[in-house]
Parts: sequence; structure tokens; C-alpha cells
Amino acid sequence: MIDDATQIKRKSFCLNHVCITIANDFLLDSILISFSTCLLATFIKPCALKDSQSNDCLARNIENIFQHWRNGVPGLSGVGSLDPFRVNRLRIAQRVPPNVDVRVELRNMTTVGLSQAKILNSTTLYNTGHYNLGFHVHLTQINLTSKYKLKGHVLLLNLNSTGILTSELDNLEFYVALRMQPQQAEGITFMNVNAIKTDIARIDNIRINLTNLFNGNKELERSANEIFNENWRVLFEILRPVLTQTFDSVLEDRFTKVFRYLPAKYLFKDVE
Ligand SMILES: *[C@@H]1O[C@H](CO)[C@@H](O)[C@H](O)[C@H]1NC(C)=O
Ligand SMILES: *[C@@H]1O[C@H](CO)[C@@H](O)[C@H](O)[C@H]1NC(C)=O
Ligand SMILES: *[C@@H]1O[C@H](CO)[C@@H](O)[C@H](O)[C@H]1NC(C)=O
Ligand SMILES: *[C@@H]1O[C@H](CO)[C@@H](O)[C@H](O)[C@H]1NC(C)=O
Ligand SMILES: *[C@@H]1O[C@H](CO)[C@@H](O)[C@H](O)[C@H]1NC(C)=O
Repeated sequence: MIDDATQIKRKSFCLNHVCITIANDFLLDSILISFSTCLLATFIKPCALKDSQSNDCLARNIENIFQHWRNGVPGLSGVGSLDPFRVNRLRIAQRVPPNVDVRVELRNMTTVGLSQAKILNSTTLYNTGHYNLGFHVHLTQINLTSKYKLKGHVLLLNLNSTGILTSELDNLEFYVALRMQPQQAEGITFMNVNAIKTDIARIDNIRINLTNLFNGNKELERSANEIFNENWRVLFEILRPVLTQTFDSVLEDRFTKVFRYLPAKYLFKDVE
């Protein structure tokens, strides 16, 4: 016999070695998984959310969430791996006269390196019921692999090809703006992510390699790739929307799910 109490789904998590179990009727998992969450979540500390130009506590929390939960969040299904991170399909149409006018489709893109994110600083601002968080993120290196389809011109080369794209990006820095709002669910306050937007502030180098650029002509392929690498800043204008979209979707997915999972008071001190 299974009694009603067992049927009530249960969610447990733990902060500073104290385990809390909440019964509610959305998402829940076994006690075992909850227990591992208990052991892992000690890296989260409640941070003050008052207006601040340098909220180190928040910066460390975010960094820790990215590192410790890079393979997913224990007890929470539907949060994918961060390293590698996969994107099924991306389409870009980019026109930057006179160098670039292309349409690119990327399939099965994989990136490696996101879990190494370092938060350089973090700001918090409260405004009419919303919290605005801002942080500068640094990534030492991101490696990207994808199937590509490309049509158009780049640096005087007329291209129409499909193949494999691999790329390494060095020293990337971007700014993230996140807007969130407290929301009640089952009598518990959670943070609801309203919007998230990233903006790349700096990149030091891009190495790129596209296969099969000219129907398998290796000579032409090599010289085209050399031209791309010598002019990587032009390539960056093509990759910028890809990177921005990737960061936006990674961050939105993570923050939305983690904030919906952990009651606000475990992440933020001064939230009712
Ligand atoms: C992408 O990967 C999935 C799963 O591995 C596969 O089924 C699909 O055919 C791939 N798509 C392309 C365009 O390679
Ligand atoms: C990216 O690839 C290079 C060359 O294969 C490798 O040395 C480097 O460790 C990789 N970086 C990451 C973040 O995986
Ligand atoms: C955060 O760090 C970035 C990069 O070092 C810097 O440009 C920015 O001014 C800093 N912001 C604050 C509020 O300190
Ligand atoms: C591009 O290549 C595809 C497949 O090889 C071909 O069908 C198409 O006509 C080409 N387009 C142009 C503009 O050359
Ligand atoms: C580009 O990638 C192809 C296929 O992975 C590889 O054979 C080739 O050596 C690479 N070229 C460079 C310059 O790394």
C-alpha cells in the first residue's frame, strides 16, 4: 500500500548542512537524489540584494553554481550539461559591408569551457518591484565544434559549402544584465527571471577551421582558412550573434531553472 503521504512529492535541498524538505506538487525526485543535493548545495550562501556596485557574495554564488552544477543540478531534471554545452540549430544572416554578407546555419554545435566562467564583478539595483543584476564574466577559452552550412561572401571569397567548423576563442569577456522579480508559489517566494541579455565586451583572438570550403580542394581551403584567421575580427562579426545567442540561452535556462528550484531566501538575504 502506498499512502497519501508517500504520494505527496517531496523536494529536499540543503544549505549550510541543514536539510529542508518541502512537499509540493511540482517536480520531485527520490530522497537519494535529494540527499546528494544536500551535500552539494553548501556552496550557496544567501547574499544581500541591496543596491551595490560590487556584490562579491553574489559573484561567488553565480560562479559556484556554474562550476558545481556544470553537469546538471542534482535532483532537478531538465538542466543539461554546461560542459559540453549543446545547441541543436542556429541560423545567422549577417551583413557587414563590404567584408561580409552571409547566411550561416549551424547544426549540433558543442562548446567546451563555459563552466570555467569567472565573475569579475557584480552589481545589484532595485527598481519598482524588480531586481536588476549585472555582472562581467570572463572565460579563458571556449572551444566550439559544429556542422555548418554557409552561403555568401566573406572577405572577397564567394562561398557556398557545408562541412565542419571548429573554433577556439581566447579571453572572452561579456556583460550580463539580468532582471528578476520575486514571485510566490505555494506560499514560498522564488525569483522569476524576466529577462537576460549578454553583450560581448572583449575577445583577444579567434582561431577557426572550416572544412570542405571548396568542394574538397585542400589548397584553396587552407588559404581561405588562413585569410579568416588573419582577419579574425571580421569573423568575429559573424560569430558574435552566435555567441550572444548561446550565452543568452545558457544563462536564461540555468538561472530560470535554478531560481525556480531554490526558494529565494537561500540565494538572497533580504527578500521576504
Ligand atoms: C545532430 O545530432 C543528432 C543526435 O546526435 C542527430 O540525430 C542529428 O542527425 C544530427 N544532425 C545533423 C545535422 O548532423
Ligand atoms: C581547446 O582546444 C585546444 C586544442 O585542442 C586545447 O588545447 C584546449 O585545452 C581546449 N580548451 C578547452 C577549454 O577545452
Ligand atoms: C567590472 O569589470 C569590468 C572588467 O574588468 C570593468 O570594465 C567594469 O567597469 C567593472 N564594473 C564595475 C561596476 O566595477
Ligand atoms: C550552392 O550549393 C548547392 C549545393 O551544392 C547548390 O545546389 C546551389 O545551387 C549553390 N548555390 C549557389 C548560389 O551557387
Ligand atoms: C582543420 O580541420 C581538419 C578536420 O578536422 C583537419 O584535418 C585540419 O588539420 C585542420 N586544420 C588546421 C589548420 O587546424
